[in-house]
Amino acid sequence: MPFTFAFVCVIRFAVLFLVCAAPVAWADSPSTGSVTSKPFGRTPDDHLVRLYTLANKNGMSVSIMDYGATIVKIFAPDRNGKLDDVVLGFDKFSPYLHLSPYFGATVGRYANRIAKGRFELGGKVYQLPINNGPNSLHGGIRGFDKRMWKVEPVESDIPAIRFSRLSPDGEEGYPGNLFVSVTFSLNDDNELRISYEATTDKPTIINLSNHSYFNLAGGGTIFNHVLTLHADTFTPVDATLIPTGEIKPVAGTPWDFLNPTPIGLHLKQTGGNPIGYDHNFVLNKGFFSDWSVAAEVVEPKSGRTLTVSTDQPGIQFYSGNFLDGTLTGAGGNVYHQYDAIVLETQHFPDSPNHDNFPSTILVPGDTYKTSTVYAFGVK
Ligand code: BGC
Repeated sequence: MPFTFAFVCVIRFAVLFLVCAAPVAWADSPSTGSVTSKPFGRTPDDHLVRLYTLANKNGMSVSIMDYGATIVKIFAPDRNGKLDDVVLGFDKFSPYLHLSPYFGATVGRYANRIAKGRFELGGKVYQLPINNGPNSLHGGIRGFDKRMWKVEPVESDIPAIRFSRLSPDGEEGYPGNLFVSVTFSLNDDNELRISYEATTDKPTIINLSNHSYFNLAGGGTIFNHVLTLHADTFTPVDATLIPTGEIKPVAGTPWDFLNPTPIGLHLKQTGGNPIGYDHNFVLNKGFFSDWSVAAEVVEPKSGRTLTVSTDQPGIQFYSGNFLDGTLTGAGGNVYHQYDAIVLETQHFPDSPNHDNFPSTILVPGDTYKTSTVYAFGVK
């Protein structure tokens, strides 16, 4: 009898431990690092939002929530090993519902702008909701950043997590049922990989990206962040930030980041309203080749570096021009103009309306597949 009682207690304790305290039990426990999760908030329609944290053996961690498949925190070491949160975000869930300018979010079905929200596909004209001046931005009024994603364990020997959802035919005006997944993984070389996959049952357009706002110093303006962009050309824009269609050399312009250049050096010469960088750069590797380093960032004070590699043809470099000091984020940080650098690997903005830009059409039977690696280091 005492033995049976003790046995029951042990089993009960073990179950309780597994349910309440253990890291999320993914298929194979990673040999190094972990995936843990905790509740983060509730949506207005009462879905529980959870925050999943991938951590590696160096203490680096990336926290992602299932609302918007959104990166909420990235803790990366500086040259002395000190960890700081190097992305803008909020400590609690509620500001993500209405205030967040896409902080860390997965943006889609079409990241970036589509002129007047209109495009033609297969002889039919589609009209998307307008949510940015006269244009459609980042998938519309309720894009992928404002949806709950399903969480799936991933068979991986490094910490990894996959989010998936079915974007129904007609959602935000886009044709075709789109089954889409985004997988995040973190290895012991401090490399965060984001891989996207999608299939459709009708021809559609697709352009997915991650919208993390980086600040490698952990705060302050990014004027002293030193940027290299492997792009000889960029796509100039009109007053509403729609590409004119021209592919223009950067040499001798404020958009020339071919050599390492502090972001603040020529920022004021870019013009625009508000002034600053908010442009798509055409990566040198060519439209259709595989993998290349797109961008390198060095923050001299902390020594932190970020290298962005991708198979995408373009990268939108946005210098946080619209941040205006009205948002208070994680740790009480007030976010001011130019406090962040956003490096969105993607197809070019408004591609469906420019025949000279690489195509963003996805047809049934094909799989949209793309990856980007954000490698954190020190100098
Ligand atoms: C766009 C900016 C926009 C920002 C936040 C960026 O991708 O290029 O113009 O303000 O997203 O919405």
